[in-house]
Amino acid sequence: MKRLFIVANWKSNVTIQEVNSWLLQLKNSKWNIENKTIIVCPPFTLLSLLKQRLNEHKLPIEVGAQDISPFPKGAYTGEIAADQLAEYVSYVIIGHSERRKYFREADQMLSNKVDMALQGKITPIFCVQDATTVVPRDVSIVAYEPVFAIGTGNPDTPESAEKVSMRIREENKNVRKVLYGGSVTDKNVNSFISRSSIDGVLVGSASLDPVTFSHIITNA
Ligand code: 13P
Repeated sequence: MKRLFIVANWKSNVTIQEVNSWLLQLKNSKWNIENKTIIVCPPFTLLSLLKQRLNEHKLPIEVGAQDISPFPKGAYTGEIAADQLAEYVSYVIIGHSERRKYFREADQMLSNKVDMALQGKITPIFCVQDATTVVPRDVSIVAYEPVFAIGTGNPDTPESAEKVSMRIREENKNVRKVLYGGSVTDKNVNSFISRSSIDGVLVGSASLDPVTFSHIITNA
C-alpha cells in the first residue's frame, strides 16, 4: 500500500486567533490517517504556534513552509533561511505558480531554493505547472498543479493528472512521489488518489475548513 501525502497550503490565510479553532475542530472530527503523512503549511507567522499546538494536542501532523530563501543566513532582508526554517519544518513548498507569477520566481532561483532546503535537511515539495516545467535534479517530491485548476473549482481530470505524473517521472529519475493539486475537495480527492501514479494531494482552499480537510484525509 502506497504512503499518501496530504498537504495543506494555507497561502496568505489564517491568523493566530483562527489557528486555535482550526485545530480544535480538526481534533474533534473523525479522521483516518492510516498510511498517510499529513503536512500543514501555514504562513511563516504561524509556524512556531502551530508546531507548539500540534504537540500539545498530540496531533500526528507535520509542519511545512510555503517558501524558503534562495540564500543562506545573512543580510537578505525579509527572507527566511533554511537554518531558521529547519527549527520548525521538515518540508517546504517551492515553485508554487503564485510565486512564479506574482514574484517572478524563475528556474535558477527555484533551483537555489531547492539546494538551500536540501542543505538544511528540509524536503522540497516542488510545484510544476505541467510536465515540461524544469525540476531541479535532487527533487524527490513533485506537486503537479495546473494553473487553470488552482482556486477555480475546475480540477484537472484524474486521467490527465496521471498522464502528467507518468511523464514527470520519466523525465526526472529522482522523483519518487507525485502529488496532484488544484481544486481538490473531499468529493474528488479519491478519484486522484486511486490512480497508481498519484501519491497524494496539495490542497489550498478546501484545507482552510478543518472539517472538510478531515474529510479529505479520510476519503483519500
Ligand atoms: P486550491 O485547492 O484552492 O485550488 O489551491 C491549490 C493550490 O494552489 C495548492 O497549493
